Amino acid sequence: MKCVIETRKLNKYYGKGTDHEVHALKNIDLKIKEGSFVSIMGPSGSGKTTLLDVIGCLLRPSSGDLWIDGENTNNKTDKELAKIRGKKIGFVFQQYNLIPGFSALENVEIALRINGKNKKQAREKARAVLNLLGLEKRIYHRPAQLSGGEQQRVAIARALANDPKIILADEPTGNLDTKTGEMITRLLRKINKEKNYTIVIVTHDPRIGKHADNIINIIDGKISKEGFYET
Ligand SMILES: Nc1ncnc2c1ncn2[C@@H]1O[C@H](COP(=O)(O)OP(=O)(O)OP(=O)(O)O)[C@@H](O)[C@H]1O
Ligand SMILES: [Mg+2]
Repeated sequence: MKCVIETRKLNKYYGKGTDHEVHALKNIDLKIKEGSFVSIMGPSGSGKTTLLDVIGCLLRPSSGDLWIDGENTNNKTDKELAKIRGKKIGFVFQQYNLIPGFSALENVEIALRINGKNKKQAREKARAVLNLLGLEKRIYHRPAQLSGGEQQRVAIARALANDPKIILADEPTGNLDTKTGEMITRLLRKINKEKNYTIVIVTHDPRIGKHADNIINIIDGKISKEGFYET
């Protein structure tokens, strides 16, 4: 089966050469299959967010290789990386990161406009994705007028808008109560199954781990264990 994300000997340092140098990722080798639902787990400070940001081309690795959908990202310019990111990757964050002054509809539209859709196309697609997430009655609400679970669904709608192959989510249920968190996890799992998007979730929550096809455990910047969730 095809791997959409592959890394070889990936290293990431913060503040390299200074006396506060951090070796955040150590020789990470990963293969993530197309259409899989993978969870990254590990203690605070172990490198989960760093790994997700490197995979998402938001951060460049200090050394090693990263392939996204078969393409080596090493020699790409920042502009080329931004293009890969825009076309192939959708992000979901713990804090939702929605634009406060924009409605739900506008928050999703902007992602489409940035990727070259015209106004009409963006409006239609944004409505369709928000409908898919059960938000058709909330499209004119601003983030402050939405519940946490609704805001996160808008953020997921935004991540899905450009039909990315890969969705990367950093603790997407971290700010939600248990029940709402479970609903968001099920939703992501459903999208993964129905659309065959590859989903990588960073989480502390073992309940999410149970939904995953594979769990990658990171400790102190290293993959300590990869495999299925065991109770
Ligand atoms: N911008 C930065 N500059 C310097 N050090 C950083 C930076 N970002 C992260 N670090 C350090 O790199 C290590 C890994 O951080 P990272 O944010 O990836 O951990 P994490 O596993 O996501 O933790 P958490 O579960 O608390 O979110 C930590 O020791 C952290 O202090
Ligand atoms: Mg983190």
